Amino acid sequence: MKKDILETKKGNFEITVTVNGELKELSVKNGEFLLDALRRHGWKGTKKGCDTGDCGSCTVILNGRAVLGCLVPAVAAHGGELTTIEGLGTVRDPHPLQEAFVEAGAVQCGFCIPGMILSSKALLDRAPRPTEAEIRKALDGNLCRCTGYVKQVEAVKNASARLAGGKRKRG
Ligand code: FES
Ligand code: FES
Repeated sequence: MKKDILETKKGNFEITVTVNGELKELSVKNGEFLLDALRRHGWKGTKKGCDTGDCGSCTVILNGRAVLGCLVPAVAAHGGELTTIEGLGTVRDPHPLQEAFVEAGAVQCGFCIPGMILSSKALLDRAPRPTEAEIRKALDGNLCRCTGYVKQVEAVKNASARLAGGKRKRG
């Protein structure tokens, strides 16, 4: 059963949330957004770009949906399941999406990439073989200052093929 949110003496809250498969109790500040709470607790792969809902760099997956951490109150994650970029893969064992982004040359400075990858993952989780239009729609809130929005689409197509067991195209 979902525990109640506990309000602490300082007016902060204790929330219970599953982050990358592990149940966590997190202290969040009154009025704090999920992006700031995650970064404060060490999940710094979630990037703070605009902080106004315009760039997508703070994208995380909450209960299966890609959401903007800078617009979601941290308390809204109570009882939920969160995936951050730290939950996908490691340098030694990257997720197929991470491999595909690198192989396609879709990563330059890298700042936008955690958000791009998580938007892509949420898409592939609900539509394993998306059309190009669906990929572009899923990524249209993720801004990139370095690239031309071509390589990322190619990367998602390749990851989709790889995850489905098909042959991938090298970028
Ligand atoms: S930091 Fe959240 S959308 Fe830009
Ligand atoms: S790779 Fe630099 S902002 Fe996207």
